[in-house]
Amino acid sequence: MAKFVGAFGASHGPLIAREWESMPEAPKKRLGKAFRELGRRLSAVRPDVLIEVSPDHWVNFFINNLPSVCIGVGEQHDGPPEPFLKDFARSLPGHPGLAMHIVTTALANDFEPSISHHLTLDHGFCIPLLRMELPQLPQIIPMVINDLEPPMPSIRRCLAWGRLLARAIASYPENLRVAILATGGLSHSIGEPTMGDIDEPFDRACIAAFTTGDDASVIDALEAGLKTTGNGGHEVRNWVVAHGAAGSRGFDLVDYFPVPEVYVGCAFAAWTVPDAVKAAA
Ligand SMILES: [Fe+2]
Repeated sequence: MAKFVGAFGASHGPLIAREWESMPEAPKKRLGKAFRELGRRLSAVRPDVLIEVSPDHWVNFFINNLPSVCIGVGEQHDGPPEPFLKDFARSLPGHPGLAMHIVTTALANDFEPSISHHLTLDHGFCIPLLRMELPQLPQIIPMVINDLEPPMPSIRRCLAWGRLLARAIASYPENLRVAILATGGLSHSIGEPTMGDIDEPFDRACIAAFTTGDDASVIDALEAGLKTTGNGGHEVRNWVVAHGAAGSRGFDLVDYFPVPEVYVGCAFAAWTVPDAVKAAA
């Protein structure tokens, strides 16, 4: 049977790639170190498949067709369209078997995701993969959450989606090691009057809630904080999915620091599964 081996979270602001070469040395060095440490932890659990939970930044979807949740079931996914990521992979391998099993498990449990046989994975998916410097890319199952345009899935529903993912992984008959990577957040503000603001109290509240592992704390902290923080903070929904999949076990914070150069409160964390590293050795 497939085995859930860990969940991870990383920020993904586009300037982490677009302005990388011109970034001041101190934040560049700290960001690079945090991404590589996350990559080291992810590689240590040797995932065959990585379920990536990210928004779509108007690449696949727009307001004429905007799913709340979409699962990518393709054999391959197109690489990022952003010019500043043109040297990253032109295509990324998928895992249609597990992806479709997630969809059918969802439908059997009263969840109704959209599906796509052909997604393009933008910077939200690809910047963490690039910066983690993984020796080899696992097969990727994209899970797109609408974090961009209201109305969005509730925090409670994102927790439930995480639990559903864990159930789907555990019931897949193939012997696969499966990890989850949530990308986006923490606070940032894009294309609105507060553009560039980083809401450190919101970020600290998110980190405290995810660390305690208590569902009520996560729901309360996020539902309250998201009302007043910048629009980019809504991407923390993806972290909630990871948190739910990990059974609300609490995470290890790899690093957090506000990075004005990329407009984002950047966070990196791992929900570790006991014995997943030992079993992979
Ligand atoms: Fe984003």
